Amino acid sequence: AAHRAFLDRYYRVTHHVYDVSRKYFLFGRDGVLDRLLASEWTTLVEIGPGTGRNLVRLHRRRPRATLGGLEASDVMRAHAGRRCPWARIDAGFAEDADIGAVLGVRPQRILMSYSLSMFTDKDRAIDNARRHLAPGGELWVVDFADLAGLPALPRRAMRSFLSAFHVEAVPDDLPHRHGASHVDHGPFRYFVVARFGGAE
Ligand SMILES: C[S@@+](CC[C@H](N)C(=O)[O-])C[C@H]1O[C@@H](n2cnc3c(N)ncnc32)[C@H](O)[C@@H]1O
Repeated sequence: AAHRAFLDRYYRVTHHVYDVSRKYFLFGRDGVLDRLLASEWTTLVEIGPGTGRNLVRLHRRRPRATLGGLEASDVMRAHAGRRCPWARIDAGFAEDADIGAVLGVRPQRILMSYSLSMFTDKDRAIDNARRHLAPGGELWVVDFADLAGLPALPRRAMRSFLSAFHVEAVPDDLPHRHGASHVDHGPFRYFVVARFGGAE
């Protein structure tokens, strides 16, 4: 409840300018969408879709796919719902929601795009997503990494900026601890991209 209240307070003020401002620091998202679209699937759920920006792009490029979202903030859920009338966006938390219930089937793809860094329990969220994948499915994550390629000063500044917004970079060992099948990083280790299989 506290996390939802924080998110709603924060996004009530910022959701109008969200997509324009985030363009300048949520890097790597379009590359992950390209990689997602390189394989065949028909069902995808995004965890923490925010304004629905990624779902809109996926819908444009794969209009026949069934897309859904799971969103903790009521403010963002309403916003994404207006923007993505063809998607079903459920209320819930990444850590314990029944992700299979969003579309009525376990999705073939789950996307976490700059949302894992906001979850209160990242390990539970990854376990929960992997458990709900369809057989042979994939979970894709893109999010802030350890910024190790930046000089110390901008790195510290960026970290305190992020923590002021309850954002904590993805721990370096998290992908391996959860058996990621692929991991790579953006320039300066600004972001990490990780792919996981299901936990069947
Ligand atoms: C930084 S935004 C990213 C939005 C979008 N995925 C993108 O790439 O532009 C993070 C989103 O995750 C949501 N969120 C945060 N904690 C969550 C949780 N525990 N469960 C589900 N969604 C959560 C926030 O409300 C917000 O909409």
